[in-house]
Amino acid sequence: MTIISTDISKAIELLNNEDVVAIPTETVYGLAGNIYSEKAIRKIFQVKQRPFFNPLIVHIDSIEKIDGIVSEFPEQAKMLAAAFWPGALTLVLKKKPNIPDLITAGKNTVAVRVPNHPTTLSLLQKLSFPLAAPSANPFGSISPTSSVHVNNYFKNTIPMVLEGGACKNGIESTIIGFENNEAVLYRLGSISIEEIENVIGKLKVKNKKEIAPNAPGMLARHYAPKTGTYLVKDAEKFIKDYTDKKIGVLRFSNEMNSLNCMHLEVLSRKGDLKEAASNLYAALHRLDNLNLDMIVAELFPNIGLGKSINDRLVRATKNE
Ligand code: TXA
Ligand code: MG
Repeated sequence: MTIISTDISKAIELLNNEDVVAIPTETVYGLAGNIYSEKAIRKIFQVKQRPFFNPLIVHIDSIEKIDGIVSEFPEQAKMLAAAFWPGALTLVLKKKPNIPDLITAGKNTVAVRVPNHPTTLSLLQKLSFPLAAPSANPFGSISPTSSVHVNNYFKNTIPMVLEGGACKNGIESTIIGFENNEAVLYRLGSISIEEIENVIGKLKVKNKKEIAPNAPGMLARHYAPKTGTYLVKDAEKFIKDYTDKKIGVLRFSNEMNSLNCMHLEVLSRKGDLKEAASNLYAALHRLDNLNLDMIVAELFPNIGLGKSINDRLVRATKNE
């Protein structure tokens, strides 16, 4: 049986024992293990059915600890860390030789962040090692934003979910790397491009399918429900052709339900993209559990976090 509990000392005991524990963060729940324990890291990959070419993010509790992880800390990276840590920004930097190849998929860089969740910060402070933590979902499926989501995936295969409530941001961290001293965005996430550019100026964006070798998590079909999912401009228009189907609709703020659908998920009635992002995965989990014939998602405004939401919806859709 998987324990779902707020008991940090139990989590410490398991992690010190080279086991894995699901942990809350402000973005999504992670499946965590000691970065220096080959046993724990192999278990993370095995539980998630994740391919070894896909590297993991290292979680630390303060910026000071980065010295033990990276060999270079460029000026722009420092500015970003100062602006956003603790928070939903992951930096990809040159790694120290002591960071195991299993964590970095053999690359000479390592992804690192300071998560902004009181329970997990307190856990990290009490451990003598950083935690590697990919999102706590089977490879390719919707990320978990509550302990219940994690438990539905990994009941009986992991010993514990550390309870930390619903994830505030609800969408993964934004990943930034550096190529020839230039900042490059590898994954859209819960800090918008605009917010990053306010700190370091114009950002190069490589959040494309083609960059799979750079951020291998960015495979085309990812974050995907089991139910066939379509991304459209206008849900009402789209579903007119499918009157005989059980349809669930996911949209931004328009509550108007002239829609002939079985279930409607409106992510932010007041039209706030931050609120919408925080509700995205929970809404997809609900829709996916309704045994629908199809999920129809409506494109979000392509600004700020709307870009990150659209990115995840594109990856969730059937034909991608
Ligand atoms: O919000 C988050 O980032 C969550 C929470 C738990 O912290 N974690 C998360 O981990 O989303 P995961 O494993 O699902 O996604 C990690 C992403 C992958 O796309 C991976 O390819 C990329 O980070 N990544 C890790 N190390 C990298 C590296 N050295 N270079 C480029 N990309 C890297
Ligand atoms: Mg993931």
